[in-house]
Amino acid sequence: MAGSRGGFSSRLGFIMAAAGSAVGLGNIWGFPTQTASNGGAAFVLMYLVLAFCLAYPAFMAEILIGRYGQANAVTALQKMSKNIFQKRFAFVVGFGGVICAGLILSFYGIVAGWMIAHTAEPVAKLIGSDDAANWLVAFSFERNLIFTALFVSLTIFIISRGVEEGIEKWSKRLMPLMLTLLLILIGYVLTLDGASEGLEAYLNPDFSRIFEPDLVLSALGQAFFSLSLGTSVMIIYGSYISKSENMVSLGAQVTLIDVSIAFLAGLLIIPAMYVAQAQGVEIFAADGSLLSEDTLVFTVLPSLFESMGGVGLFVAIGFFALMTIAALTSSISMLEGPVSYAVERHNMERKKASIFIGIGIFLFSVIIMSNFESLFGLVITLSTKYGQPIVAMLCCVFVGWIWQRNSLLEEIKSGNESVEDGFFWKIWPVYTKVVCPTAIAMVFLHSL
Ligand code: PHE
Repeated sequence: MAGSRGGFSSRLGFIMAAAGSAVGLGNIWGFPTQTASNGGAAFVLMYLVLAFCLAYPAFMAEILIGRYGQANAVTALQKMSKNIFQKRFAFVVGFGGVICAGLILSFYGIVAGWMIAHTAEPVAKLIGSDDAANWLVAFSFERNLIFTALFVSLTIFIISRGVEEGIEKWSKRLMPLMLTLLLILIGYVLTLDGASEGLEAYLNPDFSRIFEPDLVLSALGQAFFSLSLGTSVMIIYGSYISKSENMVSLGAQVTLIDVSIAFLAGLLIIPAMYVAQAQGVEIFAADGSLLSEDTLVFTVLPSLFESMGGVGLFVAIGFFALMTIAALTSSISMLEGPVSYAVERHNMERKKASIFIGIGIFLFSVIIMSNFESLFGLVITLSTKYGQPIVAMLCCVFVGWIWQRNSLLEEIKSGNESVEDGFFWKIWPVYTKVVCPTAIAMVFLHSL
């Protein structure tokens, strides 16, 4: 299927790459910590509903736009536009997504750098270098700079090699490795004292909390971030899929993998917290809620690993390597958005574009690191709370209101002749036209 612009060589290639983009720090860190701070299983339930009812249809919109356009986000959206106003609108939406991907990479690279440093820390301890180990886990500008540079370099290396040799090949290597690590860690943690209490907290929903506005908002934001929506990434990945593939089932498989891995990560992290508690580590904040976010990942879990003695060093390496790998298969998709745009719209050579844009984004990360207190949170809010929902909503508007209905239906049918008899065919077009944009807009406005 690979034409001159490249493409995935097989359906497995797309599934691994798209699931690789979707499964990242959002699943392994974000989902369990959000679950912890939103009352456990009630959040999980709401997340599952929103992921399938809102995020999946929006995800389908993006991959269908890409496959129809067979081009980067801007060009693909412009192909569906009929007049100059629509073309300009297409530019704003497509380019907005590209910028959003770059902004996300600028903070994601910093966080992924921390993960590499935390993977190296137990290694330093193993070889007896305690000073190095302490430096690796202490927050400093130098450490952040070095490890963000390392992570961004890995991302540039993979993207510069192209779709098949870079994205597909590395996703196919890294995703099974990540899943294996995750399963081994879950298997181990569940044998420890306190794990069953954690399972209970994770899987037993407190239904009274399920419609709390904060919970619903967090679950929707989490679902959109996790499926990489509103960033041009799924449009460009969709554009590398062959016309003979069944998009409805491909999209469903990727969503299912994404949701399942988030769920599995919860099976690791929440029980691990209760195991830590059984070892005497504090896991509740003053207000009685479970500790979450960075405290959970960088304080609670490391205390747990430490309390395990020698084996804890290997568990720590496994855990932070898992985080790093998950982050890498996501970051490559973030860089592919802007790179594909530069290659196809400005005729830049891929390698050059990967290096220039990668370095540009890294320099922006350096600015964030130098003004950490004021910029880090701001960039996250701008890109994930505003950028992603707005662009994702506008993609649905494009599919529902601007794309000609016949050519939309033809695109769904391509590779899937029998789709006309199914539920998706009857529901999805009108759903994407009305329900998705309205629901996203309502939730977004509410969050303001
Ligand atoms: N989906 C990724 C995660 O869960 C993050 C991501 C967002 C990737 C946007 C690409 C684009 O970590």
